[in-house]
Amino acid sequence: MSRRTPIESQRVDAPLTQSATFLVLSVTEQPDAIKTARSALASVDDLCKNVSIRDLDASFACTVGIGSALWDRLLSDVPRPVELHPFPKIEGKVHTAVSTPGDLLFHIRAQRRDLCFEFERQLMDVLGESVKVIDSTVGFRYFDVRDLLGFVDGTANPVGAAVNESVLVTEADDSHSAGGSYVVVQKYVHDLAAWQRLSTEQQEAVIGRRKFDNVELADQEDDGKQKPHKQLATIEDPHTGAELSILRDNMPFGNAGQGEFGTYFIGYSSKLWVIEQMLERMFVGSPPGLHDRILDYSRALTGTTFFVPSATVLAGLGDD
Ligand code: HEM
Repeated sequence: MSRRTPIESQRVDAPLTQSATFLVLSVTEQPDAIKTARSALASVDDLCKNVSIRDLDASFACTVGIGSALWDRLLSDVPRPVELHPFPKIEGKVHTAVSTPGDLLFHIRAQRRDLCFEFERQLMDVLGESVKVIDSTVGFRYFDVRDLLGFVDGTANPVGAAVNESVLVTEADDSHSAGGSYVVVQKYVHDLAAWQRLSTEQQEAVIGRRKFDNVELADQEDDGKQKPHKQLATIEDPHTGAELSILRDNMPFGNAGQGEFGTYFIGYSSKLWVIEQMLERMFVGSPPGLHDRILDYSRALTGTTFFVPSATVLAGLGDD
C-alpha cells in the first residue's frame, strides 16, 4: 500500500464526553468478511461526518483499533506495529487480569447518546455479516468526572502537547506505524456494597487522592504495605527517570436494577509496555504480593489490546 503524506492520526485526543460506546467485534471466517471489513473501515471517516454534522457542538469522534489476531488477515499489506501482541493474561497471587478476544474496537464518543447510537447503527449496517459482537458497553459521565467508586477519574491525564507525545507512535519508534497508538481496554465490575463499607479515609488510601477535593496524597514509602492505585500506576522511563503518561477515558457503566456497577477502562499509549507494566504492578503488586487494593472491589471481565492505525492507513484500505 502506498502511504499518503502527511500522516494524519485518528482522533485519539478527542475531548471527554458525556456518552461513549465501547464496541468490540470479531471478524468472521465468511469468504467476503475481510473485504467487507476493509471497505467498512475505509468508510469510517465518511460515517463520522454523516453523524457529526447533525450536531457540530456534540464533539462526536470515533477511533478504530485493530487486534493482533486480525492484523495479518486484514492488513497483510501494512507492516505489523512492532509491539502489537494479544493482551497477556496477568496472574497475581489474588487477582487475575483475564485476556479476552477482540478483532476490532470502536471507541465512539459524543456529548449526546443518540449520536453514539446512530453511528453504531450505520456502522453495523455496513459491516453486516462480516462481524460478530463480542461486547458493546454504553458508558455515561457521572457527576464531576467521577467513577462509580466516587473518585474523580482522569486527573493525571496528559494535556496539550503532552497528549500526542504520550499516545502517538513516532517515526523513530516504528516508522511504519507512526501516527498510530496502542489501546488497551478492560471492563471492570465493582462490588459497590463492599466498597461502601470502607470509610472515606480507607477509600482514599486505596486510590491515593482525597475523595471530596481530589487532592493527591503523598506517595507511600516501601514499608511493606500495599501502595495506592495512583502510585502503582505511575511508571518511569528506565533511562531518564521521567514519568510516562498514558491517556485514559474511563467511563462508568451499569444498571442499578440488576446490581451492575462498572468502570470501562480504556488507555492509549505510544508504548504498549507502559500499560502492561502498570497492569503488572496492579495485579502482581510492587513489590510482588502487594497488589492494588482497587482490585479487591473491582473484577476485570475482559482484557484486550488493539492498535489504532493512523487515519491515513485506514483511508488507504479503500484503495483495493
Ligand atoms: C489514576 C480509577 C484502572 C491507570 C486513577 C485515579 C482514579 C482511578 C480515581 C486517580 C485520578 C486520576 O489521576 O485519574 C481507576 C478505576 C479503575 C482503574 C476505577 C478500574 C477499576 C486502571 C488501570 C490502569 C490505570 C487498569 C492502567 C493499566 C491509571 C493511571 C493513573 C490512574 C496511569 C494516574 C496515576 C498518576 O497519578 O500519575 N485511576 N483506575 N487505572 N490510573 Fe486508574
